[in-house]
Amino acid sequence: MRIDIITVVPDILKSPFQASIMKRSIDKGLVEVNLHNLRDYTDTNYKQVDDYQFGGGAGMVMMIEPIDKCISKLKSERDYDEIIYMTPDGNTLNQSIANQLSLKGNLIILCGHYKGVDQRVRDHFITKEISIGDYVLSGGELGALILCDAIIRLIPGVLGNETSALTDSFQDNLLAPPIYTRPAEYNGWKVPDVLTSGNFPKIETWREEQAYQRTKERRPDLLEE
Ligand code: ADE
Repeated sequence: MRIDIITVVPDILKSPFQASIMKRSIDKGLVEVNLHNLRDYTDTNYKQVDDYQFGGGAGMVMMIEPIDKCISKLKSERDYDEIIYMTPDGNTLNQSIANQLSLKGNLIILCGHYKGVDQRVRDHFITKEISIGDYVLSGGELGALILCDAIIRLIPGVLGNETSALTDSFQDNLLAPPIYTRPAEYNGWKVPDVLTSGNFPKIETWREEQAYQRTKERRPDLLEE
């Protein structure tokens, strides 16, 4: 998979791709991430990428021209499956969206800043709009990172068996069951006997029951879906 991220603050995005699972996926050649500084696509002296909004009002708007230049250059080099705009008024990211995007080949992610982008960008270039939740961030970059992490860990070969994505919360509309590791007793607090019993069908049944119970208590809405 190839991900091209368009931003006015590439520095925010650099280090998360240089550690842990996202770095490993890049090192293994399973993912290629390219950061594009929108200011490289403007001819103006001040590297201007934003301007006042028509009709007045506080806050700057990202201009269409540099975004058009950047997206058009990328599209002239390869086909893209989706051109995603990170915005608080997009579809809220969930596991199903992450699953679908993890199957794609080439993605562009456009990060908004200031008040957001000129509506014509959304009307003519964007194929998907994604929010990471009902709160407003100062830019789309952190949202883009969350989206990338959620997608990349699902790509076959990125996670080893020991951290398989199949048993994650939400993967089957259930939260994950409780988990424990050594020691089997700490401060008198014991791990449930079933987990140390070696009876794997029983363990499986216990996990399913716990996942259901936890979902019922914490996220009953998931059971209704
Ligand atoms: N940009 C600003 N707020 C955002 C949010 N909640 N999700 C995605 N992008 C954003």
